[in-house]
Parts: sequence; structure tokens; C-alpha cells
Amino acid sequence: MTPAVKRIGVLTGGGDCPGLNAVIRAVVKTAIYNYGIEVIGIEDGYQGLVENRMRPLSALDVSGILTIGGTILGTSNKCDPKRVAVGFDESGDPRFEDRTEQCIDHIRKREIEALVLIGGDGTMAGSEPFLNAGVPCVGVPKTIDNDLEGTDLTFGFMTAVNTATDAIDRLHTTAMSHHRVMVVEVMGRNAGWIALHAGVASGSDVILIPEIPYALESICTFIHKRSRAGKRFSIACIAEGATPLGGAQVVSRIDPTSPDPIRLGGIGARLADDIERCIDQETRATNLGHVIRGGSPIAADRVLATRFGHCAMQLLAKGSFNRLVAMQKGEITDIDIFETVGKQRKVPLDCDIMTAARSVGTCFGD
Ligand code: F6P
Repeated sequence: MTPAVKRIGVLTGGGDCPGLNAVIRAVVKTAIYNYGIEVIGIEDGYQGLVENRMRPLSALDVSGILTIGGTILGTSNKCDPKRVAVGFDESGDPRFEDRTEQCIDHIRKREIEALVLIGGDGTMAGSEPFLNAGVPCVGVPKTIDNDLEGTDLTFGFMTAVNTATDAIDRLHTTAMSHHRVMVVEVMGRNAGWIALHAGVASGSDVILIPEIPYALESICTFIHKRSRAGKRFSIACIAEGATPLGGAQVVSRIDPTSPDPIRLGGIGARLADDIERCIDQETRATNLGHVIRGGSPIAADRVLATRFGHCAMQLLAKGSFNRLVAMQKGEITDIDIFETVGKQRKVPLDCDIMTAARSVGTCFGD
């Protein structure tokens, strides 16, 4: 088969995530070995397109990266080609410029015919000016949060859950020895996928997710009952986006130069204070933060990333453009590249994992 394109660019956008290198490797090796397509690696996401920082990627360049966390290309979760931060005005507010034309010029000069975009909803949204200019794109869905619409699974999620579970297992030791309540906060933006899965996997007694605003009283009554039943410790796994009933999310920082400026963080510490104030039990909070985004992808993510990268190249080779690779009901498929944009896939409250967790006595704070 003669492939629809001869040279492509690949970039990784948004926050780093275990499995990015595994996708890059699959894209490059599938392109070279199967179709004779050349691959140019674009550095630091869209920032590298703006600044013309790119380099050819050979099979040798991607050899040995399957198991390595992060991305050999670098990434940025700040750059949208239509709104590039270029400094600050007199009042200290960031100034933005549309650098789309500059990016397209760099793409044309390098004779890049199509792009593989490995990223989340922001990265897919960023493809619009390129599609309009006739540069086809194919997306690969990435995020530890697993909150992208249209795909049941994103690569990196399973590794993040594994790392969080391992950390909570370790915190059990202190909880049991000191008879404490240990509150563990995990990332996930506005969805509770990581907290739910890591909470269930670690046997957390309380799981708090953004989809269910929690009542402090319910949590304290639950912990108190456990103590009376002889369980002298409790573990609560809380998503960074969780909120108390009638309360707001805890924002750790606002970055005005980022297209998605709000960063969450700190609800775990707040909950620990509230619990300690309500019941007579020593409580500690741990925020796992970026730890769960790091490290080597677990086997399942290496496999998923390889399948996703291979599928992206197949789509480009056969000229099936402007698609996003997806996983639906265990099968690899593809959907419109804009399907995820502006949406967030939340945990359905009637899903079987929630029901199973409730059936083993987990408290969701409701
Ligand atoms: O989307 C991935 C994610 O790790 C979220 O879970 C978290 O809210 C956010 O990125 C953190 O972003 P940053 O790396 O900019 O602090």
C-alpha cells in the first residue's frame, strides 16, 4: 500500500504521563518499518512548532524508551498556537499573540504533511488551525485523569492508579500503628476516576470524588462507627477536585498564561483538619501530587500505548485524517478529533465499581 503521507510530525502536549514514550516509539517504528514514512519529533508540544524546534526521529532514537516515564520530546501544558503568551503588559497581565501562521510556515518548510498529536482535550483543541490550513492530524488520547470523552481508557491512567495504590498501601502501616485517620489526596481534575480506582484497589475506607459532594458529618459518623467496632484507624482517599456539600473546590494556584489556568490541590489537608476537629482521632494528610504522574508505565499501559501509537499510524497511512484513537468496550477504534474538546467524562454514579465499593462498606461521604 502506498501511504497517504510521506513525512509526519509528532508532538506530546499537556501534562506528562506514563506511556508517552511508548506511544512515540510505536508511532516511529510503525511509520518506518511498515510504511517508509519519515517522522519528525517536535519538542515541547506546540511550543516547538512555534519556535521551530524539531528533529528527525529514527528507529534507533526511539529504541529503549518503552519503559521510560515522561517524554523524550518534552511537553508543555501552556501553549495554544492561537494564544501564545509573549510577555506581560504594564499592569502585569500576560500578553498573547496568535502564532498559527508561524507554525504552519515551519510545518511547510519541513515538508511535514500531517501531525500526530499525543495529548488531552487541550492538545486536540489546538489542532483546529492546522486542520483549517489543510494539515491533517490524528490524535492519541493521553491523561492520567482518564476523563476524556469518547474513550473508555487513556494511557497513563492505570500506572497512576497503581502508583497511588502502592502509596496508600504504605500509608496503611502508619494508620494502623498510630491508630490514625490518614487522608490521601490524588490528582484527577474534576473527575474521580483515579480516587475511585486507587481507593477501591487499596481498600480505602472512605473515597471522596468530585461527582459526590461530601458531608463531613457522614464521614465522621462512619469513622466513629469503625472505631467503636474496633477498627482503630481509617484511610480516606480524596480526589483533588472533591468538594464539601455546598462548598467550593480548593485551588492551589492560578496560572494566567495557561489555557486551563486553574490548578487544584489542598482539599485533603482541609479535610484532615475538619475530621480532627470533629472527632477525637489524630489525622494526617498526604498529597501524592505529581508523584502519580511519574515513573515507568506499568505493563498494561505499555501495551495500550503501543496499540494506540500503531493505530494512529495506520489511520495516517490510509488517509483517515482528523481522527482520535480511542478504546471502546475493549476494542481500539477512532472517533472525531474534536469529540473530547470542551467535555469531561465523569464517573457515572451507577457504575458497577461504585456499587461494588458500596457493597463492601466504603463510605462516599454522602
Ligand atoms: O491532567 C493531568 C493533571 O495531572 C491533573 O490531574 C492535575 O490537576 C493537573 O494535571 C496538574 O497540572 P500541573 O502539572 O500544571 O500542575
